Amino acid sequence: MAASPSESTDLRLDADTIAAVDVSDMLADVVGLPEHLRDALWKVESANMQPWDSPGGLVVAGMGGSAVGGALARAMLGDHASRPVLASRAYGLPAWTTPDTTVLCASYSGDTEETLACYEAAGALGARRVAVCSGGKLATLARADGVPVIPVAGGFQPRAAVAYMTVAALEVAALCGAGPRMGAEIDVAADHLEHLVVEWGADGADDCEAKALARALYDSVPVIAGSGLTTPIAYRWKTQFNENAKIPAFMNELPELCHNEVVGWQEAPALGRFAAVFLDDSDTHPRVKERFALTRELIGEQATGTFVVESRGHTAVERVLSLVLLGDLVSLYVAVLRGTDPTPVDVLVSLKERLAASA
Ligand code: F6R
Repeated sequence: MAASPSESTDLRLDADTIAAVDVSDMLADVVGLPEHLRDALWKVESANMQPWDSPGGLVVAGMGGSAVGGALARAMLGDHASRPVLASRAYGLPAWTTPDTTVLCASYSGDTEETLACYEAAGALGARRVAVCSGGKLATLARADGVPVIPVAGGFQPRAAVAYMTVAALEVAALCGAGPRMGAEIDVAADHLEHLVVEWGADGADDCEAKALARALYDSVPVIAGSGLTTPIAYRWKTQFNENAKIPAFMNELPELCHNEVVGWQEAPALGRFAAVFLDDSDTHPRVKERFALTRELIGEQATGTFVVESRGHTAVERVLSLVLLGDLVSLYVAVLRGTDPTPVDVLVSLKERLAASA
């Protein structure tokens, strides 16, 4: 059971304090992001796939931590995507999927029923399939069907394999003609992330951005806002707060939230403590940047805090991954400040077990 935040009011985030709460060492997997990226490139290579042509583009079918790689890859491709690339989180494929579409079935465990249903649906349609998983039923089915399998290293929580899922989606997008090869950008981003790990990791300065933000957020409900490239990252932050810190968290995107959600802050203090985090990027539309500033000002009195966080790096791959790393660390540090082990996701496991029992 989690200690109440008041039991940890000294808000320490040194390496020993982190290790004492993060008993399953999620931190090692989070700061392993640069190494995972490099390993992921090798893993795709090992599947030995030759390029093919999918005029219908790419659907990345998966759920949760396995689907997010598809959405992040889409953000990284930006205007360089020459065909549709879409992350789909459902029991079925989008209605427009045709035999001309490549379907990448992404499931860390290989046993997620929604993803397995998409694997079957893509087969029935005659669409080209690729699987990315660490094993499970998906690996067994794919091998039996002669479908290429991109292997993922075992022993992670699925959400910690984000680099593997993202690289798999990027590489398959390139192989099927939906985008350019991004291998060089991925390598450069891995080097860039090494520096950020030093800056924001457990041995980083006590007032570094990741630790300071965690201290500012640990006793509020985080409401994350993204725009364009940062929208899927806002979703990643939300889900990492949910799964690592075990707290409710919400996300939305600009400019849309300026047309509705902004009004909802009026009564926020009567309901609880809510903090707003805006994920900004050098490529954010200038009018959206103005909206970040104005929205912050307008909700400032109702929020327990408002924060703008800038992506770091040059290429889209670097910038996306910098914010993914920051969000993963902030959510982990919030878990530590709340006395909660970041790794287990008991409710999620129990839900899957109960569903399996009724299948
Ligand atoms: C758990 C996690 C979940 C899973 C999801 C799908 O760490 O992130 O969101 O990713 O339940 O399971 P997999 O990834 O095994 O297909």
